[in-house]
Amino acid sequence: MGDKVTVPHIVKQKLQGEKITCLTAYDYSFARILDAAGVDILLVGDSVGCVFQGQPNTLPVTLDDMVYHTRAVVRGCKRALVVSDMPFLSYQVSKEHAIKNAGRLVQQGGAEAVKLEGGLPMQSTIEAIVRVGIPVMGHVGLTPQSIHRFGGYKVQGKEKNHREGILRDASAVQDAGAFAIVLEGMPMDLAAEITARLTIPTIGIGAGGQCDGQVLVINDMLGLFDDFTPKFVKRYANLKEITMHAVKSFIGEVRDGKFPAEEHAFR
Ligand code: KIV
Repeated sequence: MGDKVTVPHIVKQKLQGEKITCLTAYDYSFARILDAAGVDILLVGDSVGCVFQGQPNTLPVTLDDMVYHTRAVVRGCKRALVVSDMPFLSYQVSKEHAIKNAGRLVQQGGAEAVKLEGGLPMQSTIEAIVRVGIPVMGHVGLTPQSIHRFGGYKVQGKEKNHREGILRDASAVQDAGAFAIVLEGMPMDLAAEITARLTIPTIGIGAGGQCDGQVLVINDMLGLFDDFTPKFVKRYANLKEITMHAVKSFIGEVRDGKFPAEEHAFR
């Protein structure tokens, strides 16, 4: 296992042309596995609302939820950088509120950085959080907390003026002092242009292969969550099928009296 991943380490990876890997994690067991496998960043995403809580979107996730899941992930993580998502309404109300809430994720959750959605309108909020010493990861393009404004999970930046808006958003996030930025749900050439223009690393999801790194939701890539599967998700395993098979075996063996066997019992 390599050295502990830090914020400067992530920034250096872009300079060295080394791709950055990021996966979401919400609990201790998965955090341990992903960390031991060598992923660079564990993102405690507010996607926890969908894949863990079964909510229709990320909007109901609370700061208390994020602190709870961040704590669990931090306990399972030795090497990766732990970044925690700021949930809806935890940073939009005022800068003071945003600093306090980012501080809770760090102080009570143990996160090493926070992520928040939005570009130009969030510039001064990002600046304020960075100023108190908390590293911020930006997030532009398809920002799920704005799902109702977009009218669904739609690829952003297809039209010229919208594309220019996203370019401005990405620059504003960098100017505010963010150390990295997630580019979600946008045409691959737009993500490539942002990646070439910015000095901070871009981490793509549904944004093509030219980004400095890639992030996926762990439940999607392992085939654990199939309520809907976006086009950009690659399934690296089908844990739903494996789990189903294991659970059916357990049910059958208990019913047939095969489990527990001698070796599972105490004398
Ligand atoms: O909440 C999340 O999991 C995210 C990633 C999809 C980037 O924000």
